[in-house]
Amino acid sequence: MKILTAYFSHSGENYFSGKIINVEKGNTAIVAEKIAAMTGSDLFEIKATMPYPKKYAYCVKRSRDELADNARPELERYIGVLDYDTVILGYPNWCGTMPMPVFTFLESADFSGKKILPLCTNEGSGLARSVSDIKKLCPSAQVEEGLSVKGSDAGECDEAVRQWLENNGVI
Ligand SMILES: Cc1cc2nc3c(=O)[nH]c(=O)nc-3n(C[C@H](O)[C@H](O)[C@H](O)COP(=O)(O)O)c2cc1C
Repeated sequence: MKILTAYFSHSGENYFSGKIINVEKGNTAIVAEKIAAMTGSDLFEIKATMPYPKKYAYCVKRSRDELADNARPELERYIGVLDYDTVILGYPNWCGTMPMPVFTFLESADFSGKKILPLCTNEGSGLARSVSDIKKLCPSAQVEEGLSVKGSDAGECDEAVRQWLENNGVI
């Protein structure tokens, strides 16, 4: 079985257990790297050509505008998924769903017949609308039950992640 772990993550200011702190590496990136190590999968970062502001308030403003516009921000690079059976898709919850570059990613390749495992880091809203949005964007994919990880627990989520990967037969 060939697995791709594709993720979006934002570094800079973020809420961490109620406080704004500055991070070098985003929460989802931390979890995605753990997943790649556990599964031996390839790792792909979904990155918008126009970087998101480091300042939290500006980032929230842009994410709200893009969501309202149903925007498809251009990506720095694209990847085909023909060679993969399973795609583990990591993203933060932004305003109740995925950041819009993840929408671009899901429309940029053919996910028919692929298994998609959604992994969402968040500060309390869980997966929210993200899984139903993935199903709408990839109607011919097999979208499995997603895993929600609290962003501030990203460093210590190994057991929950391992269990989820095991339940989905990828390790
Ligand atoms: C623009 C923006 C919007 C967010 N919206 C939500 C939200 O609606 N619900 C929630 O629980 N967390 C929300 N968060 C918190 C992130 O989901 C959480 O901190 C996540 O772990 C960040 O992952 P990252 O560091 O990989 O980008 C938001 C964060 C940002 C920057």
